Amino acid sequence: MRKVLIQSSMVAFILVSCNPRPVENQQEIIKEIESREIRRVTKASIMEEALNQGDLISEIAQQTLSKTLVSAIQKGGILEAVEKCKVSAYPLIDSLSTAYQADIRRVSLKLRNPNNAPDSVERDVLEAYEYARQNSLELVPNVEEISKDVILYTKPIMVTNPVCLSCHGKLNQEILIKNYETIHSLYPADSAIGYSMGDLRGMWSIHFLKKHLVNAVH
Ligand code: HEC
Repeated sequence: MRKVLIQSSMVAFILVSCNPRPVENQQEIIKEIESREIRRVTKASIMEEALNQGDLISEIAQQTLSKTLVSAIQKGGILEAVEKCKVSAYPLIDSLSTAYQADIRRVSLKLRNPNNAPDSVERDVLEAYEYARQNSLELVPNVEEISKDVILYTKPIMVTNPVCLSCHGKLNQEILIKNYETIHSLYPADSAIGYSMGDLRGMWSIHFLKKHLVNAVH
């Protein structure tokens, strides 16, 4: 915000010095320009920035995960791929997190890793997505201001690829018992099975600092 003020008063100074006017008018012009500049960083533009950044980050993260998952399965089978399912295993996602000052997670109502448990706001959004899916409504990314300083971006993760079912499908049908023994030994509290194609598996949850978004707007 301070940057806007400085820039706009410089603009005002240049305008004023090329175009001399009485003092009271100069003050009015400065005020007018400042208020126009400030108005541009509206809540709507901050939310739009969060939506754009969230779309970009989740798209890159999703593609990175899927690509690595598929090639790991091709190379060494399901068990080789299990360790590629952690968001925290990807340096690229880590760098996105630093570059955008964003906390990037995947959360779900039915968990494999208890660290991916939703907080109460995330749970509400997941439940709303689940309701939308059950009622054949469109599931779209969402942004909401969750506190004075933080904006939450969410995007549904659907089971759209049959490969997901080899680890999240039905036991002894899509998931081979021998593979599940390993998954279960790593995640003893696992409840992320029994999914079908088209189900909501979870969502990307990205917390942005409002301050960072404001800087990105201009
Ligand atoms: C090779 C087995 C495997 C495949 C294939 C797989 N997953 Fe997973 N999935 C896992 C494991 C293991 C975890 C736990 C990761 C962790 O520790 O954070 C997980 C976690 C998740 C989570 C985070 C929530 C939770 O339950 O912890 C989501 C969301 C998810 N998977 C979606 C998918 C989707 C969508 C696909 C298909 C594109 C897919 N997975 C394919 C094994 C797999």
